[in-house]
Amino acid sequence: MADKGGFPHYMVKEIFEQPQGLRNTIAPRVFLDEGVVRLDDVRISAEELRALRRINIVASGTSRHAGMAGQYMIQDLADLPVEVDYASEFEYRNPLIGRSELTIVITQSGETADTTAAQREARAKGSRTVAISNVEGSTIAREADGVLYTHAGPEISIASTKAFTAQMAVLFMFAVYLGQVRGKLSKEQVRSHIRELLDLPGKVEAVLGCAPDCERLADKFHRVQDFLFMGRAIHYPVAMDGALKLKEVSYVHAEGYPTGETKHGPNALIDESLPVMIIATCDRNDAGSVLRYEKSMANIKGFKQQSGRVIAIASQGDEALRKLADHTIFVPTATELLLPILEIVPLQLFAYYMAVRRGLDVDRPRNLVKSVTRE
Ligand code: AGP
Repeated sequence: MADKGGFPHYMVKEIFEQPQGLRNTIAPRVFLDEGVVRLDDVRISAEELRALRRINIVASGTSRHAGMAGQYMIQDLADLPVEVDYASEFEYRNPLIGRSELTIVITQSGETADTTAAQREARAKGSRTVAISNVEGSTIAREADGVLYTHAGPEISIASTKAFTAQMAVLFMFAVYLGQVRGKLSKEQVRSHIRELLDLPGKVEAVLGCAPDCERLADKFHRVQDFLFMGRAIHYPVAMDGALKLKEVSYVHAEGYPTGETKHGPNALIDESLPVMIIATCDRNDAGSVLRYEKSMANIKGFKQQSGRVIAIASQGDEALRKLADHTIFVPTATELLLPILEIVPLQLFAYYMAVRRGLDVDRPRNLVKSVTRE
């Protein structure tokens, strides 16, 4: 109990450490008065960053889900095309990269064999690399051109939680930094992104207040054997990670799906026996976000007509969605690109309480290790 800080498991301790992990990761890099983000350890010159033609993000598991969110952030804020690869697949597709393509490798441990191998492959092809890692001096960090550390603190539980939110915060800062260096963002825009970043830890603290609701949901659903997680655009990687968390700690089969894809197959499965967890938040200041939200509302109406049971992750104050869904968990409002950092918290808590309710070894799920150091 002592090193679990009074929590029964590392996983829940680490979920609750997210506000601090985010503060430590964000604070040293953002300068509100000057309106700049400083990432000195990127160690790639502004000239080279301006000349980039594409970014490739390579990672495994949860770190890859962070990379998928990063793809939306970088494309939106820095206007650069981004591709995301599974580290274990990278070498098989003969990646067409060289000096004009930057490779970002993301790994909590910094020791994942597939990801370190991918970095070596990228470097051999002439691409410069930036590693995002939670462990100082890790193999990946030592071999990279530049390093951006997440300061989430040691992560013990096999299920990655606080590293994931810190990775997304780093990717957002990197996107703003690139936008700034490449002249895509004005000082005022950078300032507004910094304000959003600085508000984030307090918002995550507020979301953690939904823990009792997540526990009640686990009480209700712990006998279920299958679950669908859905999200659109940048919320899709959140759905993917919610499904991964549930699979790995509670041994419930779960799939993450882009909401709009469900009509191309999975709809056939949706009825009272297959619950749906859908992320349907909305950034009311963003017309695209409002449109995506409306489409998701239409999807939810369809699921209800099929007798589906719907748990919605919604923006604070969304009464329409609360009335439509069977269960609703609210998260504070934020700029759309940062919403994933809030939305994943209830999904992590739900997976945790499901595992506890099913009497499982939460921190050490069967057949898994914290860091896959052999291919
Ligand atoms: C996350 O919950 C998993 N345990 C796993 O997918 C993990 O993210 C993956 O193995 C990558 O690990 P890394 O970040 O240390 O490279």
